[in-house]
Amino acid sequence: MTRTKLLVLLLLIVCPVWAEEPNVVALNSATPKMDHRLAPLPSVAPAPADNPTTPAKVALGKQLFFDPRLSGGNTMSCASCHKPDRLFGDGVDWNKGEKGVTLVRNTQSCVNVGFYDSFFWDGRAASLEEQALGPIQSEVEMNQNLDELEKELNAVPGYVSQFQTVFGEKPDRKNIAKALAAFQRTLVSGPSAFDRYLLGDEKALSADAKKGFELFTGAARCVECHNGPLLSDGKYYRMGISEEDLGRAEHTSETEDRYRFRTPSLRNVADTGPYMHNGLFASLDRVVSLYYHGTSETTTDGLAIDAPDLSEQSLDDVDYLMAFLKSLSGTPPDFTPPVLP
Ligand code: HEC
Ligand code: HEC
Repeated sequence: MTRTKLLVLLLLIVCPVWAEEPNVVALNSATPKMDHRLAPLPSVAPAPADNPTTPAKVALGKQLFFDPRLSGGNTMSCASCHKPDRLFGDGVDWNKGEKGVTLVRNTQSCVNVGFYDSFFWDGRAASLEEQALGPIQSEVEMNQNLDELEKELNAVPGYVSQFQTVFGEKPDRKNIAKALAAFQRTLVSGPSAFDRYLLGDEKALSADAKKGFELFTGAARCVECHNGPLLSDGKYYRMGISEEDLGRAEHTSETEDRYRFRTPSLRNVADTGPYMHNGLFASLDRVVSLYYHGTSETTTDGLAIDAPDLSEQSLDDVDYLMAFLKSLSGTPPDFTPPVLP
């Protein structure tokens, strides 16, 4: 045997990890209870090729996000409902639009939104760029005409010069949407106790939270839908919450999609109530208990409900799951309000 071959052999014996994929081994060896369906949250959200995230674009998007000029009556901004001190959600079940009309869906948090592949509770927008113009034009939200908005922003020299620098163009709807999307992609929360646990820090979770993790990934079946870095599979399910809102079917018109909603991320979930697409539950333990009390098997029009039936399992498990869910809160994104031009 040559000296190099011997060295390689020795290294393989001493550090067998080299023989396998480094990431997987590091996680498995440090935390034997790791679950491959879950993953730490990356620190940067991916951006599409035609809208790279740049500091100047993010700064512009932040101003637009906070600017009431984006609404018809110049009284309401995105931040009126997506409040920075509420993790860019609002803390109420239903908010009101500019004309005082009450919305029927719960405001989603914009923190970590850049990691989803579809947007809104029913997934009707395919990108953040596509999403952004929705609330601006919606009569029940910001009630703004896009031609008007372009005129208004073109009359503000501070905006015109920034759009020129960032896009080489005057303010228009396409670039307004791109800047808003770029800003929202920077709203990423920092590592939570759960992420530290996934990366091998056994002490990051309390004994109760560890039991909750076992249940979440095992008997309670939560991980079947709440998986990946967001703890959402991005798919749509009928959880038997209400039959008033057609959910996904409003977008697809398929009977099979009735009352289906996108699995929400569970990151920071302890701080983003009320819960569910309609804000039905004010507290987190009500959501978790729901599965333990059992839902009906079908809707009144005979469609199967996807919620797991945990009614045979111990109600004590709710407390363990709660402890685990609380470990999913990371540091909120850094935030200083913008100065508007
Ligand atoms: C009047 C309150 C209100 C205003 C103003 C508002 N939103 Fe929302 N936002 C909501 C509600 C309610 C939803 C959920 C709607 C749905 O699913 O149909 C939502 C959903 C979203 C989502 C989807 C998040 C996800 O998880 O898929 C994004 C992104 C978003 N809003 C960004 C914005 C931006 C950008 C603006 C400003 C241009 C804005 N919102 C203005 C209430 C508001
Ligand atoms: C079949 C897929 C599926 C399973 C299994 C599942 N969930 Fe969900 N979960 C969803 C969907 C979909 C919603 C939103 C339902 C709605 O709004 O109508 C949701 C909502 C939630 C919410 C509210 C989040 C928010 O921001 O409003 C929490 C908390 C939650 N689930 C925790 C759990 C826990 C804990 C388990 C295991 C006991 C679990 N889920 C099992 C799909 C699932």
